[in-house]
Amino acid sequence: MNSTPTRPVDAAQRSAFWQDVHTDHDVDGVSWWQSVPELSLSLVDATGVGVDRPIIDVGAGWSTLVDHLLELGYTDLTAIDLSTTALQVVRDRLGPAGEAVVLQMADVLDLHPARRYALWHDRAVYHFLTEPDEREDYLASLERCLEPGGHLVVATFGPDGPTTCSGLPIVRYTHAELAAQFPTYELLGTAGDEHHTPWGATQQFTAVHLRRPT
Ligand SMILES: C[S@@+](CC[C@H](N)C(=O)[O-])C[C@H]1O[C@@H](n2cnc3c(N)ncnc32)[C@H](O)[C@@H]1O
Repeated sequence: MNSTPTRPVDAAQRSAFWQDVHTDHDVDGVSWWQSVPELSLSLVDATGVGVDRPIIDVGAGWSTLVDHLLELGYTDLTAIDLSTTALQVVRDRLGPAGEAVVLQMADVLDLHPARRYALWHDRAVYHFLTEPDEREDYLASLERCLEPGGHLVVATFGPDGPTTCSGLPIVRYTHAELAAQFPTYELLGTAGDEHHTPWGATQQFTAVHLRRPT
């Protein structure tokens, strides 16, 4: 996006902003689109979480991660996002084979799940949290969602990545800075990649794999 939108500062504004993004674009009209989320798939695999264990992808948008995990035999998949438009795209894409995938409109800053998850995956959501209180709310949601000993996979723009995403300011992280956001968690792995946007630009991503203490 070329224009600079007003940064959403509360739940209602966030929801409206992201709903508009997904209504105004096709999948390949957004920078983060990827038909195969290779970095995420390799990190999920590296966690060793069993295919029958519950996995949540937060701020999933219309990511194909759940499609690929389903194909790989994972059976307990949840994806949440603020945009019902994005989630409907995923629902239509998955078809009958994906009926059991839970797709839920929810704000990652205010998650109150009915159950716990063995793996929390976030690609390109945490970096939008430029304010300390937003990061505190995210951490509180994470702690309510992730089971003790559960795995956390988070990917953000890296230190040489873009300074904005979808026109909004973001925070760029090194591996150490990103891991330090979750101080009680154990760092089990780091990864990174150069994401190629649908229009050929390159974006540096930083990813960490952490584990919540038991
Ligand atoms: C940059 S996109 C990344 C989408 C997806 N994770 C991927 O890698 O393709 C950010 C996504 O997070 C969603 N999002 C942003 N803020 C959110 C929030 N507070 N709660 C839930 N979803 C949010 C947006 O609607 C959008 O789908």
